[in-house]
Amino acid sequence: PRGASARVRCHCLLCSLAVAAFDISLHGGQVISWRNERGEELLFTSSKAIFKPPKAMRGGIPICFPQFGKCGGLEQHGFARNKIWSIERDPPALKTDDNDGKVSVDLLLKPSDDDLKCWPHCFEFRLKVSLSIDGDLTMISRIRNINGKAFSFSIAYHTYLSVSDISEVRIEGLETLDYLDNLHQRERFTEQGDAITFETEVDRIYLSAPSVIAVLDHEKKRTFIIKKGGLPDVVVWNPWEKKAKSMADLGDDEYKQMLCVDAAAIERSITLKPGEEWTGRLELSEVASSYCSDQ
Ligand code: BG6
Repeated sequence: PRGASARVRCHCLLCSLAVAAFDISLHGGQVISWRNERGEELLFTSSKAIFKPPKAMRGGIPICFPQFGKCGGLEQHGFARNKIWSIERDPPALKTDDNDGKVSVDLLLKPSDDDLKCWPHCFEFRLKVSLSIDGDLTMISRIRNINGKAFSFSIAYHTYLSVSDISEVRIEGLETLDYLDNLHQRERFTEQGDAITFETEVDRIYLSAPSVIAVLDHEKKRTFIIKKGGLPDVVVWNPWEKKAKSMADLGDDEYKQMLCVDAAAIERSITLKPGEEWTGRLELSEVASSYCSDQ
């Protein structure tokens, strides 16, 4: 498929009944849907989302690269989420690839001449998105420096989880960590609570987070398990009522049904020398809460 609106749908071929699946858009290399084997959507998409450039669709998993936020002189969250990626039929093999029973798609982004004017670094960004038979979604990013000079970047998988009601949700795994508060010019604080719960706008970058964190949704009796590799930080964002009302592509009350939890590398940017490649990995799974409490 070609063009901004092209999407790839992947689902397990072993069974023709309802199966786990994901859809990915070539606009932004953005996963725009991830469904479990019961056909339930696990990612949030705004009813006001706009599915065409020049902005990323509000929902799914936009990729923030080569910067997160506005701090690097580029457009907010970098240009990758606003570019048209291509499908790569025969990508170089991944060293630690485990394709057993998975369906996957490989995308590639290379900078255009316009990108090079605002960020003068030649790179190849390979994204492999896979779905296991159990419905786990894995995203592996490989970024290679094909420049004559070193460059540095930040990256985040800006994951919009679908939740029943933000007031019923908590995150476990970020307790006692330091975080940079985007609502206070990235001032550094230390998390004091037992688990993260929500009763107001939150926009934080938790630093050196563990490789596994959990997002528990009591009402839906669902837990998302987020596993990450090569991505030390975790962004937690919910705009809450006032900011939601100011956003044209988010419904006034939709902040209640979404929570962004991003595996990311932000505080310390990643530097690649000429010829070097970096790999970052995100794995998302969904388990019933009863299963979790039995562990
Ligand atoms: C979050 C940032 O990750 O993304 C917020 O921390 C920002 O500050 C939000 O508002 C949404 O950004 P955008 O550019 O997709 O509207």
